[in-house]
Amino acid sequence: METNRKNRPIGVIDSGVGGLSVLRALQKTMPHETFLYLGDTARAPYGTRSRETITAFVAQMTDWMEENGVKQLVAACNTITVLGTDVIRGSHSFAVIGMSKAVKEVLEATKNKNVGLMATDFTVGTGAHRKEIQAEDPAVQVFGVGCTKFVPLIEGNQFGSPELEAAISEYVDILKEKEVDTVILGCTHYPFVRESLAADFGPGVTIIDPAEATARLSKADLEQRGLLRTEGRGSCTICFTGDVALGRRLAGRMLDPAACEFKQVTL
Ligand code: DGL
Repeated sequence: METNRKNRPIGVIDSGVGGLSVLRALQKTMPHETFLYLGDTARAPYGTRSRETITAFVAQMTDWMEENGVKQLVAACNTITVLGTDVIRGSHSFAVIGMSKAVKEVLEATKNKNVGLMATDFTVGTGAHRKEIQAEDPAVQVFGVGCTKFVPLIEGNQFGSPELEAAISEYVDILKEKEVDTVILGCTHYPFVRESLAADFGPGVTIIDPAEATARLSKADLEQRGLLRTEGRGSCTICFTGDVALGRRLAGRMLDPAACEFKQVTL
């Protein structure tokens, strides 16, 4: 029975394609695992919605993951994570791993203790990153910017468009004014524009993507429960509630789409 459980997939959820940036890190960290990704692209973005609506959407995703027998669920979305892992898990049997706040990496990187947080309005509004960081070092100031324009433009494959470039400058300028030396990508969609952000911030700013720290949490949980696969070929199935052809194109920015199976699902 334990062996069967070990062979079950790891579920990964996000409002859309953003969680693919986390899936990439998960695959790198655990190459023998089978991944089942669910992106609710038909209803993204989540980050401008109410707590009640996001909680209801997440419940549909977790029910779907339960039906598909996952051994662990990774909330590859900061907006979903800040709801709290108990809320996400509900009555389901699987463990839930939320996005890391990468506190250790942030504290190692910042010299002037001015830290920027780029995230959805919902995530910024909870103050979750600030609380965890200041619990370790109260002298660190965390400046949150709700970057609401990013997700629709990324989901719409608008890379290189004047709209996306203008949005990048707008949000980067706000944080430059605060003289931050470290910036957390607090939404899993933002690694899709990491290079443009880095170019705008310039070399004096360290950008932190918590995907790798999250993958380490996922691995540690499986190891601890004796559920980590250490042999065999890994695989991944990527499901979207919206346009699969568009999802596949966007996935190509994060992983090799030829190595994944893509499916349309209804929640
Ligand atoms: N990728 C998401 C996050 O990390 C959610 C973006 C959204 O749907 O607004 O917060």
